[in-house]
Formats: sequence, structure tokens, C-alpha cells
Amino acid sequence: MTELIIVDHEAKAGELYARCVADLIKGKPDTVLGLATGSSPLAAYAALASTVKAEHIDMSRVRGFALDEYAGLDPSHPQSYRSTITRTVVEPLGLDPALVHVPNGDPATIMDAGRAYDAAIEAAGGVDVQILGIGTDGHIGFNEPGSSLASGTRIKTLTQQTRRDNARFFNDDIDQVPTHCITQGIGTILKARHLILLAFGEQKAEAIAQTVEGGICSLWPASALQLHPHATVIVDDAAASKL
Ligand code: GLP
Repeated sequence: MTELIIVDHEAKAGELYARCVADLIKGKPDTVLGLATGSSPLAAYAALASTVKAEHIDMSRVRGFALDEYAGLDPSHPQSYRSTITRTVVEPLGLDPALVHVPNGDPATIMDAGRAYDAAIEAAGGVDVQILGIGTDGHIGFNEPGSSLASGTRIKTLTQQTRRDNARFFNDDIDQVPTHCITQGIGTILKARHLILLAFGEQKAEAIAQTVEGGICSLWPASALQLHPHATVIVDDAAASKL
């Protein structure tokens, strides 16, 4: 079932995420968080960091699994998703870095890394809450249009549209944006117990309309959320404008 919440500001969406996750961690100190990069989850991470501080929540046993990583970008590169997750999640939330995992985009091992990643998620007992952004083309993680709705973690080619969208992180130069990535599959994402997708701004309106009201279809990967028993979509008025 998809639950739709329209908020007037992304800070409000952040507060909703923070409340949900903080309560979960209080009851389950070794909660497994599904983590995403991109700008959409930033207000949610910031709100959770304030809640954790205000309510003195013990984060030392919280575990995390990121959705995706660029292929062939050194983990120490400032735009690698390992670096991004460290900067935006691990440090502000005071997580133990050893408990936070990011797929390994090393080209030498990437063909086997996906299966190992899915096995690690399963061994951890699965993801409790998965936060998601959405690409303008409806991708989640890096599952571009046409991705199998049953896919596991694997290497994928990035579309030109996604590379153009992400060029802003690489000196506005599309040639610096990696061409491949490793991403949790849609099947992997759907195994999380609760999905929370955040989208803000008019540029996400079409993707949100397809996600919530379109047919379930691999051309709009996020429409797979309709198959999930507990998916929450939180959007602002602009992202809701085509519903
Ligand atoms: C990247 C990430 C996605 C993210 C998307 C949207 O492609 N791999 O996980 O959802 O960007 O990013 P933003 O939230 O900045 O619009």
C-alpha cells in the first residue's frame, strides 16, 4: 500500500522521517537503516540528528546499508557515495562507521560484489526503514528505466539523463561523471520492511505521478513501490502537482 503525504516544506518531511526512525531505534537499538544519497534526504538526516541529540538516543548499535555507489570512483573521492554517506549520515548521526556499509564499486570485484552485498543485508536481518529519493526519470537507487522489478544488487549503466542531473557534483562536467554504478536492485529495495520516498520540486512531479498513480512498470522503476505493503511517499506541493 502506498501512503501519500503532502507537506508544505521539506523540513516537515524531515521531521516525519526523524520521528519514525527515532521511535524505531528506541525500541530496537540495532535498527538497520537503508540509506540514500542525493539532496532529497538531507533534511531528514538533519532532523534525525537533532532528534537524536535532543532525546539522547543511543546510536552506537545502529547499522546502515547504502543503496548505491559509482563504479570506478575511489571511495576517498569527495563525490563517492562512501564519502557522501560518511559526511551526511555517519558523522552527524554519530554512527559507528564499521556498521555502515556501501556497495563496493571497485571494477575488479564489482561482478561479485552485488551478491555479497545482498547476502550481508540478509545476514543483518534485513533493512527496517529504507529512505529513498527519486530521479527525474523515476529511478530509485540507480535502477534506471527498464530495470527488472525483481533485480538484486548489481552493476548498471547510468543513463545520460542521470549523468547530466549529477554533473552538478562533478564541476558541471558530464565527462567527469562515472558511466557505471553498483546499485541495490528493485527486488532488494522491496525487501525493506518500510520504504519512505522523499521528493521535492516541480522537476520530480512527473516521476511522482507515475510512481503513485501510473501502472506498475519497469520504465518507471519507482512504480514498484505500489507492490510494497508499507511504502510512504512524502512530497511537497510542487512534486505533487501532477497528481
Ligand atoms: C542519485 C541517487 C539516487 C537519488 C537521485 C536523486 O541518482 N543515486 O538515490 O534519489 O540521485 O537525487 P536528488 O535527491 O538530489 O534529486
